[in-house]
Order: sequence, then structure tokens, then C-alpha cells
Amino acid sequence: MTNNEVHPIVWTGECITLLDQTLLPSEETYVDIQTVDALVDAISRLVVRGAPALGAVGAYGVALAMVQGEREDWSADELHENILRIRNARPTAVNLAWGVDRVLPLVESGLAAVVADADAVSAEDAAANRAMGRIGADWIEANVERRPLRLLTHCNTGTLATTYWGTALGVIRELHERGLVELVYADETRPLLQGARLTAWELDRAGIAHVVQSDGAAASTILRGLVDVALIGADRIAANGDSANKIGSVSVALACKDAGVPFLVVAPVSTVDLATENGDDIHIELRSGEEVTTLAGIRVAPANTQGFNPAFDVTPARLISAIITEKTAIEVAQGESPKSKL
Ligand code: MRU
Repeated sequence: MTNNEVHPIVWTGECITLLDQTLLPSEETYVDIQTVDALVDAISRLVVRGAPALGAVGAYGVALAMVQGEREDWSADELHENILRIRNARPTAVNLAWGVDRVLPLVESGLAAVVADADAVSAEDAAANRAMGRIGADWIEANVERRPLRLLTHCNTGTLATTYWGTALGVIRELHERGLVELVYADETRPLLQGARLTAWELDRAGIAHVVQSDGAAASTILRGLVDVALIGADRIAANGDSANKIGSVSVALACKDAGVPFLVVAPVSTVDLATENGDDIHIELRSGEEVTTLAGIRVAPANTQGFNPAFDVTPARLISAIITEKTAIEVAQGESPKSKL
């Protein structure tokens, strides 16, 4: 990692230090998370967010609960209940539960064993992201003709959303390193603006040419022929390839299908949930309507108007050209699925 890289999740030995993503890009503030209450609150408020990052935080969260449990003399049941609270803090990204479940069997071996495995979760995610970057960039080089490339992405899938480098943004970084990127269209990602605040911040730091557009502009930008490939991440991928990601993703996929533009989902194997048959069974987080009826804390809708705020949508497999994992590209458009390939 270079000095320019941020470290959004750090285990200090006693607590988890998180880069507060709600304050970016105007403030780069780190918060020490000392208790399970504080961690559940941080996950719910999106101080830390993004599926693979939630996987790492879930794993370190078990260590945090053990430290607090030792300090406050919790019973085994109390420890277990608190670990479950972390596991259930957000429902859609399978990685959160996956990260908790991965280290859970090590609790009886002690804190050092749990921390060592959480460190491994983090390191494996970083390596997976570099592999996805290469596999995704190779896929694009082989399947997309125009040079240099004009890319579109939705939400934030970079270092901030993972442990290092990123998934869809990792492919974009790799393409940039290969000298192939002309411009990235970053969708602003209403209502919490992960695209405008976080993706633009990462692209800027990486020196990658980009513009931010409103979510409503994306379909038009694609249909006008301004985009060569669209890339997004995922929070949960069902066995048949249906993929849940930030609300607005399916609109991008529909426009790409109509325009004949490749649409890629880039995610580690830890985001694939083979136990979920298809997208109908994915639990979509419904967040407070106030996130939609307000803008930067100021009410923009009439006082009596309620907001409707599903945080994710499901892109059906039929709209996805390929799912890029660290193992392989799954050619969904050719009839492959995670179930048949992983
Ligand atoms: O609500 P968020 O910000 O956690 O949503 C994040 C996304 O939808 C990301 O695209 C997804 O988690 C993949 S991150 C590599």
C-alpha cells in the first residue's frame, strides 16, 4: 500500500478505529469504537459501509465484543447476544454476517485467535480486490473495443467500501494503471451521496478523470453513447446471479441492456450467497424516509410528506453481462451462474 492510501478500518488491540465516512469529503475524522453499542450505531449510520468493509468490521466486531465482555464481566450468553447484534446491524450485505460467522468458532480459542483471523479476512479481501481488478480489466480489454474507455459506476466500491483498492473501483484503478481510462461517470447516489462524496474523493486522490452526475442522468448518458462499460459492486449475489446493490443500480443495468453496453458486477466470493436461490429472497434494507425528504439536514419535501427509502435494489441476472470475482469471470449473459461456476 502507498502512503496515499487510507485505512478505513484499523484494529488497535482494544478498539476499532474507523474513518467516519459520513463526514467525507469535508472532514477526515477517525473515531475509536469501544463498545458494541457504538459499533452497531456506526454500522447503522454508515460511518463504515460497503459490503466487504462490513465483512472485516463484523470479524473485528467479535473481537471488540470479547474485549468489552471481559471488561464488563459478561456471561457467555451476553457475549453471544451482543455478537448477534453486530451480525444483524444491517441486513442486505451478506458479508457482515459472513465476517462474524467466519471468526465465531474461534471465540473459545481466545482473543488472539479471533484477531488473527479477522486480520486474515482483511488481508484476503485486499488480495481478492487486486485479483478482481486484473480479471475485470482483462474482461473489458477482451470484450470492449473503444479506447480510451468511458466508464460509469454507481455508489462507492473503493478502498472505503472494502479493506483496500476496491471491487468495481478496483477494476477502474487497474484500467487507469493500464492507461486505458478516458473518463469515469460517478453517479451521485441519492440519498446519502456515496458517489458524489466518496467515489469522487477516491477518484480524485487516484488522479483518475471523472465527473459526478445525478442518478437521473445515468440512463441518458448511456443511451447517448457516452459510456463503454458500466461497473458496480454488490451486497449480496444469489445463486442464480441476481445481484443486490445500491438503489439505482437496476436502472443503470436496464439502460445498458437497451444500449448494448456491457454491465459488470464486481464482487468477492464472500458476497455470493449460494443459500439464496434468487433475488426475490434478498432482504432489502428499508431506511428512514427522512434521508429522502431532507437534503444535508434541510427538509426539501412538504412537512406532511413521507419518504420511501429502500437502500438497495436487485438487478436480475438477465441484465448482467458478467460477474467478476477473484476466482473467475462468470459469464452470466452466456448462461453461467454463481451456482454453476463457484
Ligand atoms: O449503503 P452502502 O453505502 O453500504 O451501500 C454500498 C453499496 O451498495 C456498494 O456498492 C456495495 O456494498 C459494494 S462495495 C464494494
